[in-house]
Amino acid sequence: MGSLTSWTVNPLERKSKEKWNFGATVTGVDLNNIPSDDIKILRDEVWRHKVVIIKDQHKLDPKKQWDLIRSLDPETTDEGKGSNDHRNGLLTRARCIPGAGNVRVFGKGYLGEDHHGYKNLTLDRFLNHQWHISPPSKEAFESGLTRFQRWHFDAPLYGDEPTWFTCLHIVKQPRGPDLTVEWADGSGLTMKIPPGRTAFFSSVQLYDMLSLEEKNLVDHSWVEYAPHPFKWIQHCKSQNTGLGIVGGGHLPEEELENYDPTAVKRYPMVWVNSLTGERAFQVHGICVRKLYLRNSLDEQPRIVEDITEIQDFVLGIQNRILKPEYILPAPAEEGDLVIWDNYSLFHTAIDYPERYGPKAFHKADSGGSAGPKGPVQIPMSE
Ligand SMILES: [Fe+2]
Repeated sequence: MGSLTSWTVNPLERKSKEKWNFGATVTGVDLNNIPSDDIKILRDEVWRHKVVIIKDQHKLDPKKQWDLIRSLDPETTDEGKGSNDHRNGLLTRARCIPGAGNVRVFGKGYLGEDHHGYKNLTLDRFLNHQWHISPPSKEAFESGLTRFQRWHFDAPLYGDEPTWFTCLHIVKQPRGPDLTVEWADGSGLTMKIPPGRTAFFSSVQLYDMLSLEEKNLVDHSWVEYAPHPFKWIQHCKSQNTGLGIVGGGHLPEEELENYDPTAVKRYPMVWVNSLTGERAFQVHGICVRKLYLRNSLDEQPRIVEDITEIQDFVLGIQNRILKPEYILPAPAEEGDLVIWDNYSLFHTAIDYPERYGPKAFHKADSGGSAGPKGPVQIPMSE
């Protein structure tokens, strides 16, 4: 691959029942000393494979991780100094690593005497299933039954553009028997997943599942996200699958504080990758306020504002890929750095019982220098 003769890129191997079609590992690279000329090649590898696991980065300096994520989107103006409170819409108590931009520590459990300046830090559990419409019982969870937490891509969906890439440095990984992720939606579907994994599905693979008529519709259509969308949904409940909202509970618009109409986001339903030309059905359904549906450039769009109809439309598409065979629990191990294309994948965390041990990862992303591009132009205002 290019000049990187020391690198080896291996697509992930599937078992016979698995149908996901993305992911690769990279070996033979030291991210503390990556030549700047190689960054573009790494970016292209991530765009081709969508999620790349760079092995054996145990000694990765968080400052280098911040340099890496910014150099993958070299035009980004994100200096890592913004508020982290609402970053990517999650009301997290993020802990930034001093001097390393917005590289943040997440996880749970005791992280040791000194974790990059944090002394005797014990991370509270940041996941829980109270977001789900009917959470598993405490006993069931302790016995290893769990859920997909929240399927999403990383984006504030208001103001800043979504990060092009997200990277996670896996610092401590819990250990123990596989968990059972249950759909709990009446389908009876379950999936065995090792603890501590981040799961992915491909919105490109999803787009490829659509009929020609459906592709034509979504190619020409767009969504408008709510102002302050994560505040808007803060009292809502999730489907038990972690994908989509059940019922209402949205904050009325007058309670969304003063908002800046120019910060409200309209994005195409389909996002085109500039390198591969692949199309992804990339819609963050839980935050959508309006659908604009049309089948051609000159058709007047049908505007859908009914929340149930919006959810039904988005889930009617996305639930096709929410099947065990299309979901990749990325096989990252302690010391690995996982980088993914945030414009073509959905991902989710998965909680696990504390007895499996602590989990720590360093997460970095940066406000995108440019937002998504669709297959056709969409009007940015009515
Ligand atoms: Fe995320």
